[in-house]
Amino acid sequence: MADLQDSAVLVTGGSSGIGEGVALRLGRDGARVGVGYHSGKERAEDVVRRIEEAGGTAIAVPGNVADEDEVSDAFGTLLDAYGRVDGVVVNAGLQADAPDAEMSYEEWRKVLSVDLDGAFLCAREALRRFEGQSRRGGVRAHGSIVFVTSVHQFIPWTGHANYAAAKGGAGMLMRTLAQGAAERKIRLNAVAPGAIKTPINEEVWNDEDKRRQLLELIPYGRLGEAEDVAACVSWLLSDEADYVTGTTLTVDGGMALYPGFIGNG
Ligand code: BGC
Repeated sequence: MADLQDSAVLVTGGSSGIGEGVALRLGRDGARVGVGYHSGKERAEDVVRRIEEAGGTAIAVPGNVADEDEVSDAFGTLLDAYGRVDGVVVNAGLQADAPDAEMSYEEWRKVLSVDLDGAFLCAREALRRFEGQSRRGGVRAHGSIVFVTSVHQFIPWTGHANYAAAKGGAGMLMRTLAQGAAERKIRLNAVAPGAIKTPINEEVWNDEDKRRQLLELIPYGRLGEAEDVAACVSWLLSDEADYVTGTTLTVDGGMALYPGFIGNG
């Protein structure tokens, strides 16, 4: 189990799906957690309650990641509560799918504004806040940022051009920021989840035929759970990963291994 004792970590989109799993895990690993949410206030408060019931510390943190001022306010809320911010999990994201030639500009912007602009605004704010605070005693990195991207950071996905473009962009944004921040002992990494059983893809895993088809893309033979991703995020935030920066850890049961080539090609 990663040791995040006394750190303060903001998880954007912490009220559901992968973000919820990450928030719960970080709470168990000793972090004081800011459960970021935009519209899911009650769900965020429920995640806070569950962290506290498990002996952890958390607060719900409102804010739209696509809005510059609200991002700044969200960090302010975490700082008011815990006096510092040591880590950020840039997780908030959404899909708005449409056939490529039919995708409206609104659908394109909707996804890009949250999944890519939001990643930029949150990471930039984290870099600024890390700079302005003293190093946490006994800890090696000055701050750590983990992007939750997707296998579609690498795998093209027709019908989801906005999402794939945003995730690909987020991957390069992470690496670029990592390049510049390393000398200041700030680490940035990404986890790239495959098909994790969350509300974002419920329509697929809830349908027997679609689920069977999806499983054909996963050589490991099962859908992922939020906890599969959360364990990796927690490790990347921790000192255990002190020499790891600018990398992406795929958490996908082998989805990115081109399983279509098994017995083919
Ligand atoms: C998407 C899911 C999808 C998975 C694998 C994720 O990033 O959000 O809807 O099932 O990638 O394609």
